[in-house]
Amino acid sequence: MNKIKKVGWGFEICNMHCRHCYNSSTERGCKYTFEQLKEIADKICPQIEDINFGTGEFICNPNALDLARYIKDTYPHVKMAVTSNGSTIVQMEPEEVKRLFSDIDISLDYPDEKKHCDFRRHEKSWEWAIGALRVLDELQMPHSIVTCITSETKNEDLEGLLGIARQYRANLRFNWFRKVGRGNEDLRITARRAWEIIEFLSDKVVFECIDPIFAGVLGVEAIPCPAGRISCRIHASMDISCYPFLKGAEWSGGNILDKGIDLDAIYTSAIFQKLRARKVAACQDCEFEKTCKGGCITRAVLHNGSMSEVDDYCPVAASLDINRLKRIKIRLQPTSELVHNGYLCTTICRPIV
Ligand SMILES: C[S@@+](CC[C@H](N)C(=O)[O-])C[C@H]1O[C@@H](n2cnc3c(N)ncnc32)[C@H](O)[C@@H]1O
Repeated sequence: MNKIKKVGWGFEICNMHCRHCYNSSTERGCKYTFEQLKEIADKICPQIEDINFGTGEFICNPNALDLARYIKDTYPHVKMAVTSNGSTIVQMEPEEVKRLFSDIDISLDYPDEKKHCDFRRHEKSWEWAIGALRVLDELQMPHSIVTCITSETKNEDLEGLLGIARQYRANLRFNWFRKVGRGNEDLRITARRAWEIIEFLSDKVVFECIDPIFAGVLGVEAIPCPAGRISCRIHASMDISCYPFLKGAEWSGGNILDKGIDLDAIYTSAIFQKLRARKVAACQDCEFEKTCKGGCITRAVLHNGSMSEVDDYCPVAASLDINRLKRIKIRLQPTSELVHNGYLCTTICRPIV
């Protein structure tokens, strides 16, 4: 029985050329007509709860806004969100942002204008992101700053980002770096550093959700890696995979524009079944197995070579001091229904004011 409720949809057309982009997005991308996008919406919307538009910049697809308007008017039960570099939000009418979307994520990778613009290779990156945060704060709608944590993210950057989140009354979400697309090995962070960051944040924030790999050791509840279970991703080719970071024929459960392909067919496709049957030999008899279930499938595949491996941040595999990690105390208090909560392995928190 198909349990997919959360869909990510990316057109892969972007106005930036970020150093770390998992998709290597450029100005070229999805060129489907509005009628084709509408056909997909009609196939998926009756069954799902929410859609996040990411991968590429929403507004760069000339049909994206009409698609969101169509979904809002025809399927009002489907919540929509956008992950944006800010340009979509500053170009839209504020009232329409609020009418169409339930929550918005604004990407900000550094609290410093030059570093953020250099990382995103676009001179307006900072202006758009801060402009969008100002609009969203004024609209009083749920919004988050989303930061990609890489090997170059310092604790002082995290302090600065927490300050900006406080200023614009935003959550702070962490997209832990995945090595794929333009994102090279030099940006990858170690398990030790990932855990250092959790410890650093532990007395500064309240968590809304946390990656399952951290949850077991910290003794808190988490949704297991949702890939292929409750969430999936529509790519620009219209192939559907389990996750934004995994694409291509190997990961495709089918092309949603093909006749006879719908979310039921995707859910029962061989690759989606294989993902759900994932077993990680190294997790057998591990005290945390029940909560983390091998952690995030994408960090196993992209960093450790296969879905039968553990998540790259597994503290047991990395021989970290488990007793010390168990003493880290975090506060986990889910208070909202953010579209990003449960759609992929991610960490969302709110700064303690
Ligand atoms: C690919 S962007 C697309 C949406 C929009 N254009 C934006 O910049 O937010 C979506 C999010 O993925 C993050 N991201 C990009 N490459 C990544 C990678 N290799 N690993 C993890 N997150 C990544 C970005 O920092 C951004 O927060």
